[in-house]
Amino acid sequence: RELGGNIVALQPDVGLGTREAVADIALSLERWVDAAVVRTYSHRQLEQFALSAPKLHVINALSDDEHPCQALADFLTLREHWGELRGRTVAYLGDGNNVASSLAQAAAALGVHFHVASPDGYTLTNTVVQRATNAARYGARLRLFTEAADAVAGVDAIYTDTWVSMGREAETSVRRQVFTPYQVNDGLMALAKPGALFMHCLPAHRGEEVSHEVFESPASVVFDQAENRLHCQKALLMMLLSPAAP
Ligand code: NVA
Repeated sequence: RELGGNIVALQPDVGLGTREAVADIALSLERWVDAAVVRTYSHRQLEQFALSAPKLHVINALSDDEHPCQALADFLTLREHWGELRGRTVAYLGDGNNVASSLAQAAAALGVHFHVASPDGYTLTNTVVQRATNAARYGARLRLFTEAADAVAGVDAIYTDTWVSMGREAETSVRRQVFTPYQVNDGLMALAKPGALFMHCLPAHRGEEVSHEVFESPASVVFDQAENRLHCQKALLMMLLSPAAP
């Protein structure tokens, strides 16, 4: 709306893939609108939607596998704070989830070293590791750790996300146990480079993946990230919908 466009918010009774086939909905929307912003669980369904309507710009606003719009906002935030990104190191602690997966690939493409510390069973997938490795430029390295302290030693920023992503609520109690050693607290921040930033995509759970102190500290740039979601998503729409766009 701020860019002068109109939005239509589809209601759940559309029944994507249940009441109506994914491809049929995508092909109808392709006749009506310029772009579709899709936030869903099934990444496969999102891909099917995009492939079904090649003339429709489809933006992934979060799936189980990826959260690319968040990564755009995060690296804009780091650029604002640091200037040059190449050669910096970001550590991500906790679940090797959608947010971690998109960050790993964006970091690689931007020349940022990326450390991930996660417990067994919650690491980045091999597919994501391979994609990040293939995307790496300017010597960017992806390193996987088990111990949080090893991953954060000397880094420029520490990032975490919820231990229980949307759709995983049934696993809450086991996840709280498994991820407890990965809480970002003053002890872990002290191992990073002096002046290191704290990042979180929100919603945050103070006292779980991040301590109250770190979340509220001057190191925390979480609301810069939140603000940059707006700017980046507007920029993305401009890029996709400008007459010069491919
Ligand atoms: N990993 C989280 C991100 C929320 C923005 C989730 O999928 O719920």
